Amino acid sequence: GSCPGKVSIRIADSDIDFHAEPGDPLLRAALRSGIGMAYDCNSGGCGSCQIELVEGEIEDIWPEAPGIGARARKRGRLLACQCRPLSDCVVEARVEDRFRPVVLPQRRSVRLVGFRPITHDLAEFTFASEDGKADFQPGQYAMLAIPGVEGERAYSMANLANAEGQWSFVIKRMAGGAASNRLFDEREALEGLELDGPYGTAYLREETPRDIILVAGGSGLSPILSIAAGIARSEKLAGKRVMVFYGGREAKDLCAARQLDRLFPDGHRFEVIEATSEGEEGAWEAGASRVQYKGFIHEVLAAYLKENALDFGGFGYYFCGPPPMTNALLRMLQLEFNVPEDQLFFDSFL
Ligand code: FES
Repeated sequence: GSCPGKVSIRIADSDIDFHAEPGDPLLRAALRSGIGMAYDCNSGGCGSCQIELVEGEIEDIWPEAPGIGARARKRGRLLACQCRPLSDCVVEARVEDRFRPVVLPQRRSVRLVGFRPITHDLAEFTFASEDGKADFQPGQYAMLAIPGVEGERAYSMANLANAEGQWSFVIKRMAGGAASNRLFDEREALEGLELDGPYGTAYLREETPRDIILVAGGSGLSPILSIAAGIARSEKLAGKRVMVFYGGREAKDLCAARQLDRLFPDGHRFEVIEATSEGEEGAWEAGASRVQYKGFIHEVLAAYLKENALDFGGFGYYFCGPPPMTNALLRMLQLEFNVPEDQLFFDSFL
């Protein structure tokens, strides 16, 4: 039919079933129902949400999505985040507790209520929802739909859950990026914005025996600010040592130390280490209490831990940034230093 109504989805070999609203991607319908269907990026990129259709009719929203190879696709596999059920369906899908949403994601109308430039290409945008709800875990993200821009973009929240319905995001202006340019250049005129969330499993875990390392580059600052705020107010994490590593290309990209100072006007206990991969060493202002380095941030992190005789396995790591950064860091922590997977928290939608 041209306008299907609510359909029901059953997961094969289980007693799990749920409903999907017309037009809602299969993955989001599952998560909205509190079902822990495996996923990560929600954007067609990572491949974590692969499923197989056993029965029924499904529309593939993005047949070229990079999260699935041509061979898997030929065998009938699909990305749950990039397909919409058109009829009642039975699917084979991975369901695990760790993917079960802590807060059920919802779609809501929002309007822009705040804009604050941070660097030459980063700014904080704050949106307010009409229903006054902003419930999420530090480190989670939401999908933003901007009228006139195709698809949605995943942005991590920079603030904490609040009763004012405010969702803040540090967003980077991308060269040629339709969404970010629209947000930066036409923000006064934007109407009809929709925010769907929260999503993401890289959120702050307060039950941990370990110290904490946060690593970011670019707009990866956003979740790191939220997680830092979450750590600061957590009684369970009060005794933990926390290090924040932030990498940029040049001095003008660095902003973590300043943003943390702004977030905690009465001071904080975080060790902040910023580094640039290019530009001249020492060519920028050195904050008195900051350790500043030259190099890629994963190399700087390794050097810093070694210098301080710290055990790589003694930390939980939260990281977010451009894929070359997060990939290099992930490889290093896993292959070189054998940090177990369950101590690594990151998003892969950037
Ligand atoms: Fe669907 Fe990443 S490709 S969650």
